[in-house]
Amino acid sequence: MTLLVGEGEILIGLGEGPVTQRLDRSNRHGVVAGATGTGKTVTLQIMAQAFSDAGVPVFAADVKGDLSGIAIAGTPNEKMLARAASMDLTLTPAAPPTVFWDLFGQKGHPIRTTISEMGPLLLARLLELNDVQEGVLTIVFHVADKDGLLLLDLKDLQACLKYVADHASEIGTLYGNVSPATVGSIQRKLLTLQSQGADNFFGEPALRLADIMRTDVAGRGYVNLLAADKLIHSPKLYSTFLLWLLSELFEELPELGDPEKPRLVFFFDEAHLLFNDAPKPLLEKIEQVVRLIRSKGVGVYFVTQNPADIPDAVLGQLGARIQHALRAYTPADQKGLKAAAQSFRVNPSFDTAETIQGLGVGEALVSTLDLKGAPCVVQKTLIRPPASRLGPLTPEERVALIAKSPVAGLYDTAQDRDSAYEVLQGRAQEALRQTEAAQDAAEAEKLRAAEEKVRAREEARETRAAPRARASSRQGMAETFAKSLLRTVASQAGREIMRGLLGGLKRGR
Ligand SMILES: Nc1ncnc2c1ncn2[C@@H]1O[C@H](COP(=O)(O)OP(=O)(O)O)[C@@H](O)[C@H]1O
Ligand SMILES: [Mg+2]
Repeated sequence: MTLLVGEGEILIGLGEGPVTQRLDRSNRHGVVAGATGTGKTVTLQIMAQAFSDAGVPVFAADVKGDLSGIAIAGTPNEKMLARAASMDLTLTPAAPPTVFWDLFGQKGHPIRTTISEMGPLLLARLLELNDVQEGVLTIVFHVADKDGLLLLDLKDLQACLKYVADHASEIGTLYGNVSPATVGSIQRKLLTLQSQGADNFFGEPALRLADIMRTDVAGRGYVNLLAADKLIHSPKLYSTFLLWLLSELFEELPELGDPEKPRLVFFFDEAHLLFNDAPKPLLEKIEQVVRLIRSKGVGVYFVTQNPADIPDAVLGQLGARIQHALRAYTPADQKGLKAAAQSFRVNPSFDTAETIQGLGVGEALVSTLDLKGAPCVVQKTLIRPPASRLGPLTPEERVALIAKSPVAGLYDTAQDRDSAYEVLQGRAQEALRQTEAAQDAAEAEKLRAAEEKVRAREEARETRAAPRARASSRQGMAETFAKSLLRTVASQAGREIMRGLLGGLKRGR
């Protein structure tokens, strides 16, 4: 006999019967919690594999490198085979198609975005700016956005800041007070960020979301693994990057309602880093994105030691709950245990809090949503063993897999600055929904050059004629601004860049 799982469900493990999760409820988010060494990563591994089999692409951070084994079929030992047998499960070695990503471009394909796309809110968080500094950064973006200027990398932002400091009084009267000292402190924080390797992350070619939402010829979803062993040492970069990716998905994907299965499942490991000392306005926006991204068909699964690490407003939205063992030594532990226990729908056959403390490795209390979206009664569950390898890949295996990935060659080389100009110009036009989007970059550039020449000639004539006040201070400043930034794109005046909920670039749909 084998464990039977219905159509449209994935198997998590064995409780009183098979413990499953409905695919059509898998966009209602979830949490995987438990102390270190209790089986969270393996649970993530079996879930990612099951989603992939069901045709759902997955994005997950691999914090310790031990999730990478998912890419290679396992060689089950006696213990694993016994575990499978005890569950009436046949363990057939298998591995989902996997793509490796790495912000530093070492253990996977590089992932990049631009300063403009990240936006002021997340960048302020990334730089750990105070309110005053954030205000100045917002002005910098405001000035740039107003005139359709896109900032590509950290150097562009440095140049922008310098410009703002140099024109502090002019800009101050238009947008608000800008003190050179504040600009100086932002510039210093940018240098710190750079020293953490973030300049690899800002640039071109920027990530196309379609590339993390692929399925293979057999219809299996790709598992996208972000190497995070180094990244996690810069917790702000780690959490801001994942938040940026979520906000991109949210802004870009069209509404789906409640789909048959998710379009993408996103595992957010070390989720406490997202919420730690996040200011209230940001927290509220994160809650909002998590709530709304569901109808875009994206399921978000938070992985953390203690569910108490996740704010109640987010925790309350999570449909699937997988709780591995928790200890209750300190009062804080006890509080976490109580919160974890209370989040489950009681099973009359055991005491929830007591059971959580006594769970073995690879065991969990599990509750998923039923057809109506109501939580099922909690089940004490033996999590199934993975069909892929337990433990990390060798560096050689990783290199071989990266070489044959479907995005091989697309992101591996940072684009040369000159061509980035055209790329950004194209994107600016798209973002601004220009009706004349078809107009090619060369023509636009020619036009701009011609206009510039005429204007320069006129200006020279006027200057000769009489000293005058600047025609339009806003336009005048925009012109100087454009000239001072070599790698930015000026669109025709009056086309403002729109920003989304978390401050990222909003594209015309
Ligand atoms: N479902 C499972 N099937 C088989 N072995 C498991 C399972 N879950 C955990 N284990 C064993 O326990 C070890 C620790 O689990 P892991 O997922 O790395 O813990 P955590 O991520 O919570 O620190 C694994 O290396 C594996 O040997
Ligand atoms: Mg782990």
